[in-house]
Amino acid sequence: MTEDHKKDKDIDELSGVETTGHSWDGLQELNNPLPRWWVWVWIATIVWSVWYFVVYPAWPVPGGATEGTSGYTQFKELAESQQEIRDRQAAYLERFENASFEEIMNDEELYAFAMAGGKSAFKDNCATCHGTGAEGGMGYPNLNDDDWLWGGKLSDIYHTLRYGIRADNLDTRLSQMPAFGQDKLLDKQQINMVVDYVLSLSGHTDDAHHGGEYDPAEYLKAGAQIFQQQCASCHGPDAKGLHEFGAPNLTDAIWLFGGDRDTVFQTVYYSRAGMMPAWEGRLGDDTIRQLAVYIHELGGGAPDAAILPDEGLRNPAPLKSPEYEKTEDLDNDGEVLSVEPEVPLAEDAQNDMGVHE
Ligand code: HEC
Ligand code: HEC
Repeated sequence: MTEDHKKDKDIDELSGVETTGHSWDGLQELNNPLPRWWVWVWIATIVWSVWYFVVYPAWPVPGGATEGTSGYTQFKELAESQQEIRDRQAAYLERFENASFEEIMNDEELYAFAMAGGKSAFKDNCATCHGTGAEGGMGYPNLNDDDWLWGGKLSDIYHTLRYGIRADNLDTRLSQMPAFGQDKLLDKQQINMVVDYVLSLSGHTDDAHHGGEYDPAEYLKAGAQIFQQQCASCHGPDAKGLHEFGAPNLTDAIWLFGGDRDTVFQTVYYSRAGMMPAWEGRLGDDTIRQLAVYIHELGGGAPDAAILPDEGLRNPAPLKSPEYEKTEDLDNDGEVLSVEPEVPLAEDAQNDMGVHE
């Protein structure tokens, strides 16, 4: 303050406080000092902000901001917290890697880890074909039920996933139902007979083909005979299916390709060959094992005896289908069929089903 100002200085008589010298119609402005605590807080914030500018990224500069001496960034913070999650996962993963299926099924934490991993891997890799709820569709099996083509034990499922079905892999699940009509193994009437028989196994007789011309009982008996000769080697003498050949149970009214008469006729005439890629090489072994647990637990898993993760490998599906007889002496009129196939049939199945590489 200058001398002049000091001279202007005035003291208010009532409060004894210095005035600023400003006066309006006799009202004087008092010059109370700022509370000391306030001044200190104010100074502290200034000091803190200067410190902050130096230590943290603060000043906008072209292309970003000053880095600050601490080198802090939010990206780094995010990466660190993600690393923390990964570390926690790694602890499980390490235990998971070394655990047998039996151990996984008996350890709450490993089981939960497998289920969570399997669920997300399923969404990413399997839902396109099997449906988000694994409910399947025509040609794509429902994975929720206990009706298995290739077996529902953990070791079976693991093998199926790892090596695929009719896939481009040496250990793949392989078998081929003959195209009985197309390859002239059976004539049309014989196919009709066996189709009637197959349909009757699941109580489906409404549109049986015998049509009055034949004695229905005789017709079915002939169908049963053909079945025992031509089909039982894969589907089993009781037609309940055989997992070694991926041959479905024909008595349960659960159909992979459809259970109406025309569809079953087409299946027998042209045969089918569903294929699933091998996941070995596309997914890590731990992911495949997580998926096997997840699929097993969807509802239809078969009980497994104590198994080691690799035991599935020692029971590969047979590479050759069982022999079937070619019946030369049948009179096949070679007539072109009116029923057109609607779903992938054996010969173009690989192209139609896409992912085969
Ligand atoms: C390109 C389509 C496709 C994709 C993708 C696919 N599958 Fe499949 N899957 C199939 C077909 C088709 C079959 C039936 C093959 C047959 O007819 O034997 C099958 C069969 C199976 C089976 C055997 C079922 C049984 O009854 O034995 C299992 C288990 C299975 N898939 C699980 C999976 C899992 C898990 C994934 C994801 C990692 C997956 N699939 C991805 C097409 C696919
Ligand atoms: C070499 C083994 C083999 C023989 C022999 C065989 N099948 Fe099959 N069959 C299969 C396989 C494997 C499948 C499943 C095909 C697939 O998943 O793509 C199948 C599927 C079927 C289906 C489809 C079932 C469904 O759920 O949609 C019917 C029906 C069928 N077979 C009937 C017969 C009849 C009838 C005969 C005898 C005339 C016969 N099969 C002979 C292996 C065989």
